[in-house]
Amino acid sequence: MREGCHNHRRRTMTGALLLLLPLLFPSLFTPFSHAFPSLLSELNAPNPRHSRLLRSALERQTSAEQQTELWRPSPIQGSKPCLRQDSTLSLPEKSQGYIQVFLDGGLNQQRMGICDAVALAKILNATLIIPHLEVNPVWKDSSTFDEIFDYYAAAIRANRVKTAPVHASANWCLDNVSPVLQSYGIAAVAPFSHRLAFDNMPKYIQRLRCKVNFQALVFVPHIRDLGDSLVSCLRYPLNTNEAGSSNYLTRVTDSKDKQGSGKFVVLHLRFDKDMAAHSACDFGGGKAEKLALAKYRQVIWQGRVLNSQFTDEELRSQGRCPLTPEEIGLLLAALGFDNNTRLYLASHKVYGGEARISTLRSLFPLMEDKKCLASSDERAQIKGKSSLLAAVDYYVSMHSDIFISASPGNMHNAVVGHRTYENMKTIRPNMALLGQLFLNKSLTWVEFQEAVVEGHKSRQGLLRLRRSQQSIYTYPTPDCMCSA
Ligand SMILES: *[C@@H]1O[C@H](CO)[C@@H](O)[C@H](O)[C@H]1NC(C)=O
Ligand SMILES: *[C@@H]1O[C@H](CO)[C@@H](O)[C@H](O)[C@H]1NC(C)=O
Ligand SMILES: *[C@@H]1O[C@H](CO)[C@@H](O)[C@H](O)[C@H]1NC(C)=O
Repeated sequence: MREGCHNHRRRTMTGALLLLLPLLFPSLFTPFSHAFPSLLSELNAPNPRHSRLLRSALERQTSAEQQTELWRPSPIQGSKPCLRQDSTLSLPEKSQGYIQVFLDGGLNQQRMGICDAVALAKILNATLIIPHLEVNPVWKDSSTFDEIFDYYAAAIRANRVKTAPVHASANWCLDNVSPVLQSYGIAAVAPFSHRLAFDNMPKYIQRLRCKVNFQALVFVPHIRDLGDSLVSCLRYPLNTNEAGSSNYLTRVTDSKDKQGSGKFVVLHLRFDKDMAAHSACDFGGGKAEKLALAKYRQVIWQGRVLNSQFTDEELRSQGRCPLTPEEIGLLLAALGFDNNTRLYLASHKVYGGEARISTLRSLFPLMEDKKCLASSDERAQIKGKSSLLAAVDYYVSMHSDIFISASPGNMHNAVVGHRTYENMKTIRPNMALLGQLFLNKSLTWVEFQEAVVEGHKSRQGLLRLRRSQQSIYTYPTPDCMCSA
């Protein structure tokens, strides 16, 4: 923390952490997306690939029991977050010096890095420096993170620890970083992402990581406000009257008693062009699409894409193809979500654009995205700011009744972990099963539905214990949890 740098040597990062996203993460996803002009986004609309299933799904009937079951919150599973039980979390007598870390990657990777940095500072009894811009009197208004980042980099180059191995132990840190601290009073660890081990850490360090990630690290008020606006827009939707004029907005009141009313699902749909190209799967756009994706793959990754050695069928049956909006729609329909389900699409750019989303929308007409925000002023605040959008999506995802992610990745892992910690319902698609089901063109809707329901019974928030090497932020049990 910058202010800690000036006066309060003993202050560490364990207090209220604020994450100032717009400044911390200026351009999350941009480089690749702009590297190659979009040949395809406006290409002829891809037809539904599973039209037979789709026809049945559009006419689906769901029972009241099915609905009750779906919206039922996760049961208490014998453990709850461990909090305020550690007297070891007091501040050290004296700070051993200042610690800096350098974090790359997107929002969620940096989030993990911040938590690990706090843990490292604790291991070393050091004071952690993090650009803390929002309420800081020194940097108020004038600076961007980049300016500060460069300034720091120049200032501490001689004290940089470059050799941290992936998943370094606490002892490694004590042996290699402490001496630098002792000599210079300040040490920087870069690169730092994924450098701190998840295994064999003292319990109080694990608890501290949990506390930082799941409790202390909160978004700035501005982001929470936008998130709250979205959440309330989803829970208490406004109904445009028939003339379609936004001057006449009325609260929807007719469906109050129905199952799932006032509730919503967040669907994290990361189906962008990078993802589509990198997966090397066939998305039904014919030869033109295949060629264009292959070319894109060549430009961006120079042929270093493992998946391109496999056929589409092999990839699908192994569950290595991201689910398309159509496929995730069929999954949700098969699980029993009816066409009154309010779905929030947490997603920035969908490869293929509205043409691909329209199939999903036909299954879930009440699907919403950030357009749900009431005022144009609010919409203007987030327009084109992908980092801020990612933070808002994270926030909304943490306030939904159900979360489901159509593709694995950092956002998926972060939200799944956080929701597990809060015992909130999450559905994890069984990609391999779905891949195999979608390959079978003779499957009837009923067969599809039975297989989907059966194959997802244990994937709706059942507790999964962290295994060796796995991230504590994705699998908070057992490290962050105590028996209830
Ligand atoms: C929802 O589905 C039912 C029958 O399955 C249909 O009658 C109704 O029109 C659908 N509603 C919407 C908004 O599409
Ligand atoms: C950190 O401080 C604690 C308590 O003040 C002490 O027990 C521990 O040995 C210190 N560790 C280091 C590496 O300075
Ligand atoms: C497709 O599904 C049908 C009905 O379940 C089954 O009889 C058939 O063996 C499956 N085909 C393949 C190739 O798996």
